[in-house]
Amino acid sequence: MAERRGVSKVNTKNTKIAVLGMGHVGLPTALGLAQLGWEVIGADSNPQTIDTLKQGKSWFYEPDLEPLLKKHLDSGLFIPTTDVDGAVADATVLFVCVGTPQGDDGKADLTQIESIARVVARNLNGYKLIVEKSTVPAITAHWVKRTIARYAQIEGRPNGKKNGNGKNGKRNHAVLPHFDVASNPEFLQEGKAVENFFNPDRIVIGVDSERARELLEAIYRPLNCPIVVTNPTTSELIKHAANAFLSTKISFINMVSDICEAVGADVVNVARGIGLDPRIGTGFLNAGIGFGGYCFPKDLRAFAYLGEEHGADCSLLREVERINLHRLEVFMKKVRKALWVVQGKTIGVLGLAFKPRTDDIREAPALKIVDALLREGASLRLYDPEGMPNAKRVLPEEKGRVTYCRTAYEAAAGSHALLVLTEWNEFKQLDLTRLHELMEVPVLVDGRNLYDPSEAHRAGFEYHSMGRESVGHHIPMLSAAKPVARRKQASALSKAEKSTEKIRAVVN
Ligand code: UGA
Repeated sequence: MAERRGVSKVNTKNTKIAVLGMGHVGLPTALGLAQLGWEVIGADSNPQTIDTLKQGKSWFYEPDLEPLLKKHLDSGLFIPTTDVDGAVADATVLFVCVGTPQGDDGKADLTQIESIARVVARNLNGYKLIVEKSTVPAITAHWVKRTIARYAQIEGRPNGKKNGNGKNGKRNHAVLPHFDVASNPEFLQEGKAVENFFNPDRIVIGVDSERARELLEAIYRPLNCPIVVTNPTTSELIKHAANAFLSTKISFINMVSDICEAVGADVVNVARGIGLDPRIGTGFLNAGIGFGGYCFPKDLRAFAYLGEEHGADCSLLREVERINLHRLEVFMKKVRKALWVVQGKTIGVLGLAFKPRTDDIREAPALKIVDALLREGASLRLYDPEGMPNAKRVLPEEKGRVTYCRTAYEAAAGSHALLVLTEWNEFKQLDLTRLHELMEVPVLVDGRNLYDPSEAHRAGFEYHSMGRESVGHHIPMLSAAKPVARRKQASALSKAEKSTEKIRAVVN
């Protein structure tokens, strides 16, 4: 691996870029490149996606994306199109941002990557640099290269002529235009994709030619960050290893969280206490209901699959996944412990998206919890700042069972418990006293450790969080509280809660 060095000599004057796939990775990448001054064709075969983009709207929620979209539709630097063949034919640098969903056994399904390789093959009208941005298993670049070379020999060019055919219809290898396949994994986080694009920690490029390296360096030079140059296979592996490592950190802290709860320690302080050691780092040490989304769960499985396929022991990764899946049960136990009987209870749910600042609900831990609560007979009042339209598609409103609310306060109103499942900033800023007043029974189960337990307690809540002691719940804790604090707490209690507290005191 080599750090970025020197200034490239490659001539990029007429270089056009095509970004293939206008999803969560492709669209921010295309607009980021347009902002850097490149002429970018944004291609996607879905006409609805392209129609929406042409109207200056993104088909998914991502902060700061729409202003950039409008700006570069106006500047003419971003041209959305459904004509994928045309985009490939017109451009020199092709960023491949199509989906790599999970196939059988967790193996990555590379059908869309293969079909792009075939589009490239039939539009190879000059030098092209094909850049894998989608997360793919190691060795995919080799296959993309082979596929292009293989199909360029048999597929017709758009003008109907066989590519480089000799007299007898046989392939003439000498005239096949040169092309390179590079890996340039993205590290964009949903909810921060635009911010991440312009402020990367590093850029990784996996190349096997100087020309490809110089082109990619020229494209990214204005971002002024370390560029790690390596071969395509290593670059592909860096992406999987990065996501696997971050997932491991989360499962590690979740395991520590369970130990903290068992012995009466505080996982937030443990995370801080270990994270300030720069060898460990403070990021991705928030304990909670686990990781979700389109990337971590599927990339972890794909990485383990790849390793095992090649004989490596990937039991660590399997365990990371197992711990993550088990978070659902850890959280549900907490809910059952707090409510005793879930059946027939009205429960407010704050957060449906897999993480804040996105409307993405794919593999969202929150939805798994919602599903479990419904199966146990609860009636739910749901709220998420952005995720509700997507959630409604998989879980429609149902009178008396599933109610979507306009605000967090509306979700809390009349509830026997309020659950926090996504770490939105908006939830951090809620007025806990107001929430408390609105609820039938003031039980707060916080799956993301958003609140300070003593503040939640002061507002009158029985508060359960992850890897920290519950407050307002156990008799020993109530009797240990200072008399003055208890007086304050009592005055904050509603009538309904006072009677609930009394019942609890008797029961306990
Ligand atoms: C992740 C990586 O962070 C990006 O670098 C990468 O580019 C991307 O996957 C991808 O492969 O495309 P993303 O899935 O958008 O990004 O979301 P993250 O911010 O990484 O969060 C993933 C999940 O972990 C969320 O459910 C989040 O709530 C959870 N999480 C995160 C925790 O439970 N604890 C933490 O401390 C951090």
